[in-house]
Amino acid sequence: MSAALRQAAAADVAAVAAIEREVFSDPWSEAEFTAVLDLPHAIFLVGLDGLAYVAGYAVVSCVLDESEILNLAVSPGSRRNGLGARLLDAAMATARGRGARTFFLEVRESNLAARALYESRGFAELSRRQRYYRNPAEDALLLRLEEER
Ligand SMILES: CC(C)(COP(=O)(O)OP(=O)(O)OC[C@H]1O[C@@H](n2cnc3c(N)ncnc32)[C@H](O)[C@@H]1OP(=O)(O)O)[C@@H](O)C(=O)NCCC(=O)NCCS
Repeated sequence: MSAALRQAAAADVAAVAAIEREVFSDPWSEAEFTAVLDLPHAIFLVGLDGLAYVAGYAVVSCVLDESEILNLAVSPGSRRNGLGARLLDAAMATARGRGARTFFLEVRESNLAARALYESRGFAELSRRQRYYRNPAEDALLLRLEEER
């Protein structure tokens, strides 16, 4: 893992939640991020900018051979610099190391930036969840990546 990525700690939660509120219309709370820190099946990484401030994060669950990308975001000022891809790759590599071979995630249909990232990693559309999201209501695409066992 690169020096600019590391496991999240309790001291990162306020900065993570601030990015989350800026980025998502239906954000996870600080309490939800804090709870993730204690979940043994969760992988929670933060990415740091050049000044060592938290600029992005990834939360991935991993149970047996299945993994779900639960959250991924990069602060608007730090985007298009490879951080989102590095966070995703590192969290997936950690999940793979724990045995994950199939990866799932949900993404807003209109979220072309995230969809391009996931498609570049081999994710493909599995199904659609009608009006899954709120604020605004929108379909979710369920994407899956199946790797060799
Ligand atoms: C999706 C997100 C995490 C990408 O973070 P990022 O650090 O900007 O991404 P990267 O710089 O690592 O880009 C990796 C790839 O993603 C794709 N991508 C990223 N932003 C894109 C954009 N605005 N338009 C099209 N493709 C984009 C490209 O394929 C890119 O590869 P390239 O730079 O070689 O073209 C970021 O846009 C974000 O936080 N969005 C809001 C939150 C979100 O949508 N999270 C995912 C919810 S499912």
